[in-house]
Amino acid sequence: MDKFLVAIFLVCLCTGVLGDTPANCTHEDLIGTWNFYVSEGGHDRTLDCSSPGKVMYVISMTFSGMNSIVTNSDGAVGTFNLIYNQGFEAVVGYRKYFAFFEWKTVDANHSTYWCDRTMYGQSHDVLGNDWACFTAVKQQKHLSGMLFERQNWKGNVVRNPAGSYDEELLKQPYVIKKKFVNQINKEQKSWVAQAYPELGKMSYGDVLKRSGYGNGPITRPNLPRKLKFVSNYVKARLPEAWDWRNVNGKDYVSPIRNQGSCGSCYAFASMAMLEARIRIMTNNTQTPVFSTQEVVSCGKYSQGCDGGFPYLIAGKYAQDFGVVEEHCYPYVGKDTPSCKPAVANCKRTYAAKYEYVGGYYGACTEELMMQDLVANGPVAVGIEVYEDFQLYESGIYHHVTELRSPLDGAFNPFELTNHAVLVVGFGADSKTGEKYWIVKNSWGEAWGEKGYVRIRRGTDEIAIESLAVQSFPIPQLQ
Ligand SMILES: *[C@@H]1O[C@H](CO)[C@@H](O)[C@H](O)[C@H]1NC(C)=O
Ligand SMILES: *[C@@H]1O[C@H](CO)[C@@H](O)[C@H](O)[C@H]1NC(C)=O
Ligand SMILES: *[C@@H]1O[C@H](CO)[C@@H](O)[C@H](O)[C@H]1NC(C)=O
Repeated sequence: MDKFLVAIFLVCLCTGVLGDTPANCTHEDLIGTWNFYVSEGGHDRTLDCSSPGKVMYVISMTFSGMNSIVTNSDGAVGTFNLIYNQGFEAVVGYRKYFAFFEWKTVDANHSTYWCDRTMYGQSHDVLGNDWACFTAVKQQKHLSGMLFERQNWKGNVVRNPAGSYDEELLKQPYVIKKKFVNQINKEQKSWVAQAYPELGKMSYGDVLKRSGYGNGPITRPNLPRKLKFVSNYVKARLPEAWDWRNVNGKDYVSPIRNQGSCGSCYAFASMAMLEARIRIMTNNTQTPVFSTQEVVSCGKYSQGCDGGFPYLIAGKYAQDFGVVEEHCYPYVGKDTPSCKPAVANCKRTYAAKYEYVGGYYGACTEELMMQDLVANGPVAVGIEVYEDFQLYESGIYHHVTELRSPLDGAFNPFELTNHAVLVVGFGADSKTGEKYWIVKNSWGEAWGEKGYVRIRRGTDEIAIESLAVQSFPIPQLQ
């Protein structure tokens, strides 16, 4: 039977593109000089860059490897960040430029991406008043030393993650692997796994989707970096433990939610950060719950139920477009054909600024996370989800590497995915001393420790200390 299933699985590869964009570009790809072709704008944030106007001017930008510095051909100096492996944002000459690296679908099974050119992206002045579209192409150094733009570069052809699985098989109920659960519980004592009966009611596709299916492993930043250090003064004053759910008896974290089987974790982690930070800033006099569906349906900087990133949602989207409250655009947990105008009297809440913890992509450390968490509120992170994470019930999670292929004699299409969650605190076990982060998930209250999970701290477990993001929302005037 297993052999038969495996055979079907290998033969019948089917359709669909899931996950963020197919691009997998690095910091090194970005380093160098690019030409930015800026089109005539509409002059406000309603500008649609899927059909840009004619090119008005070309400006070149040089991205430098150290400290994420960018200079433009007018001599202005600014900063940039890689956005995971998908795109970049540069802030220079009082303007922001954001674009995804170019990609396109080749056929049902393949996509192509280019790391030396971009899709049409948005540029606007730092106040968000004057908008334009742009596309960028990297200049390549020829052997002779001449600079030219590489045209007709063939790009990187990749297999679509979803192309690897038969959609019929993904519709099969998730097989609860009791033997795997027992193995995890025998192998280590740090955390306890449970064979959640609810998982048996979900399909493999649903389970994969809620954990970030199609995004692959997290590409940890690997840069020549000059890290910001937490000063000894601050270090000495960092508390041993912190929990925004209980700071002198007050809870600043909004309730646990459930994203269902839509790949909208990034929207839930983002809104959860904005919600908690508004509670903290207003001493709990404002307790909004923000709409995740509005981002799924309307977000220009994310891919609906197919993924997105907190940097672009809690940060850039909240700054450029604002977010609305849940009742204005209630969650339905699926992609909708169009974005409906949010109810007319719905106020929008904006972010004043946003950043990677440490200041730029690749500069995150455990201590910087602790510092920003205590000083400003919860921070959003990306984590890698292995199958054992689904089964977490309690304790301090680490990935049980000894059990990487828990086939348990059955078909198992589970693959490593990446997921966004919110870190709300930290501590250490009083008996073993094992350090942990306290993490808010979006899989309902029945999962884990009332919807939370504690994850091992200090060793970049499942990439939790690689890519933390913080955003600073502006509370409404009352
Ligand atoms: C996708 O891959 C499968 C198996 O390799 C093949 O049968 C199918 O024809 C491919 N589809 C396309 C559109 O190339
Ligand atoms: C992206 O590329 C890196 C190497 O540059 C590789 O290690 C990683 O697995 C790739 N990620 C994905 C999602 O393909
Ligand atoms: C915060 O709210 C509490 C009531 O929950 C109140 O006692 C306290 O004075 C408030 N603090 C400030 C700084 O307003």
